[in-house]
Amino acid sequence: MDLPYYPIHDHGPVMKGMIIGGLGIFHVFLAQFAIGGGFVMCYLQWLAGRGRLGEGGRQFLDGYFKALVLVSFVLGALTGVGMWFTTIQVSPRTIGLMVDTFHWVWAVEWCFFSLEIAAGYAFYRYGARMSDPVRLKLLGLYSVAAWFSLFWINGILSWQLTPGDWIATGSVWAGFFNPSFFPSLIFRTLVCMALGALAATVVVNAMDIAPEPRRALIARVAHLLIPMALMPFVGAWFMAVIPDDSRQWVLGGSAVMTNFLIIAVGASVLIGAYALLGILWRRMTINIATASLLCALAFGATAGGEFVREGVRKPFTVRQALYSNAITPDELDALRARGSVTDDPYPLRDADRLPNPQVALGARVYRFQCAVCHTHQGANGITHLVGTWSTDQKRLNIANLQHTKAFMPPFAGNAAELEALVQFTEWLSADQPPTWPTSDDPATLAELNHLLRQAGTSPGGHPRAAEASP
Ligand code: HEC
Repeated sequence: MDLPYYPIHDHGPVMKGMIIGGLGIFHVFLAQFAIGGGFVMCYLQWLAGRGRLGEGGRQFLDGYFKALVLVSFVLGALTGVGMWFTTIQVSPRTIGLMVDTFHWVWAVEWCFFSLEIAAGYAFYRYGARMSDPVRLKLLGLYSVAAWFSLFWINGILSWQLTPGDWIATGSVWAGFFNPSFFPSLIFRTLVCMALGALAATVVVNAMDIAPEPRRALIARVAHLLIPMALMPFVGAWFMAVIPDDSRQWVLGGSAVMTNFLIIAVGASVLIGAYALLGILWRRMTINIATASLLCALAFGATAGGEFVREGVRKPFTVRQALYSNAITPDELDALRARGSVTDDPYPLRDADRLPNPQVALGARVYRFQCAVCHTHQGANGITHLVGTWSTDQKRLNIANLQHTKAFMPPFAGNAAELEALVQFTEWLSADQPPTWPTSDDPATLAELNHLLRQAGTSPGGHPRAAEASP
């Protein structure tokens, strides 16, 4: 079987997803701010061209652009490269599939990104010397390019959750314009506008502008918060097109994901309410503390939203096509027959600390099938999760992994590997003693074979093999 094995990094007590997530949230926040910042600039420059921007406006435009360039170009680009580094370490096969499938889409995205950088840099260098109409054109170019890089990347990210007809046809365009493409593109566009406006309220407060023009500027940029009112509708549209099981998790099925959704929605409602009632209706101004607090709330909303988006895809990184642990659904039967790590070429770390070959086999199975989502004793630690279970409960629940929790893939190895994995977790829980008995009762293996057959190889949430074919 030609399944590709990749080296697997061990980050100790830190879950791999936390590394991608921690960096990803910053990156998404900065990238969306870069796009929304362009919208804010275009709007204000358009007002300036018609002589309606008022005192302090030009000063603000140039100051805001400096903040935009420094924060989002530098940090945004660095975290973007960081995303490639972390994701190819944690999920090389997923990234490989994405690059293979969307090779040219990614190339196009890259062209727009280059255009965004070039236009931004030109404005940064020469903007002060340009006439208003030329400035507007350049900012327009910047914003369009920035938004289109979102357009292209959004197709790839939304495909991971709802690959649509791509599964059956393999068509790149069916995958790109997948069922969640438009709701997520529109939602992100609204987020971009809100972030651009919120950041503008911080910058305007940080500048030396008299109170009255400052209030007028804040009222202007707050216009970009108005489209936030559409978020509930676009959010509902998104919820309607995602798979049933994903929707159930966020709507209560998984407490963690539901909580993150509540954080995201709650923070967005607070921002929206403040913007609509306070700034636009009561014509209040906001000081730098409030502005920063609103930005922090927006960061919380982004973090919650991205967490949910990543979380609801489990157990897949590309739904129906690739499990999070880099195994495809078609490969499962063969791996069950041949053994999942029989061909895994990589040596174990600290192999001489393992007490016997069975525990060593268990360690390899754990590394290949479980380590992407679990740690030994840290975050989502396997020893904590199985801590109170008897040996037989472990056998039963791991054999039934996808039914134990539907956000785990089915167990992909043979009975001997399953028993080795159970022994490995017990050895870990027992604080890794230097000797450990081998469990080789043929009756146990026969029982595990039976359990595995019963569990079937379909993802969770589907009928078990035994129930489907009595
Ligand atoms: C796609 C990610 C993913 C993979 C791969 C994965 N798990 Fe899990 N597992 C989870 C999540 C998420 C939970 C839920 C933790 C919680 O409820 O706090 C979980 C829970 C568990 C639990 C506790 C279940 C319960 O009902 O309390 C056990 C045991 C477990 N996993 C074992 C494994 C083993 C063994 C493997 C490898 C064969 C594995 N997992 C692979 C994500 C994964």
